[in-house]
Amino acid sequence: MPNKLEIYELGQPILRKKAREVEKVTHRVIQELIDDMIHTCQCANGVGISAPQIGQSLRLFIIASRPNTRYPNAPVMEPMAIINPEIMVFGSEKEDGWEGCLSIPGIYGQVRRPKSLRVSFTNRHGKREETIYDGFIARVFQHEYDHIQGTVFLDRTTGADIVTTKEYQRILSETGSK
Ligand code: NI
Repeated sequence: MPNKLEIYELGQPILRKKAREVEKVTHRVIQELIDDMIHTCQCANGVGISAPQIGQSLRLFIIASRPNTRYPNAPVMEPMAIINPEIMVFGSEKEDGWEGCLSIPGIYGQVRRPKSLRVSFTNRHGKREETIYDGFIARVFQHEYDHIQGTVFLDRTTGADIVTTKEYQRILSETGSK
């Protein structure tokens, strides 16, 4: 059974550090960490979680998109581990979208980001992959990539774009998705 890990919140210095590369991807310790992170993310109704958020300064994150109370319109996908990622090309088109963060409870914000991107990363089996993401998954990828660089989504908002959970839920119910 995977473990539910403690989520570090804003103010913990590890969230502001650039994380280091994962060396032995297929090692049992890393494989168990991946399983624990997927479990922790799903328990918290997250759509992604990065290693610094559970106290490990490693270039590793999970994307685990599925609809939940925090993101009712999220697409369904198998949870995926992204290791030692690189963003190779950003698409030229940008869009605004709502983001929250398991390390910043109670707050959501509108963040403008490139709509698509080409990335490479190592998967949990140790194989290098290259792919293009678009829309919501591209947004989650960029949010989690920020975490391993020591950046959080608040750094990319203006104060005027930040709302509380209550207001975010109200906005969602009034507008549907955006
Ligand atoms: Ni986050």
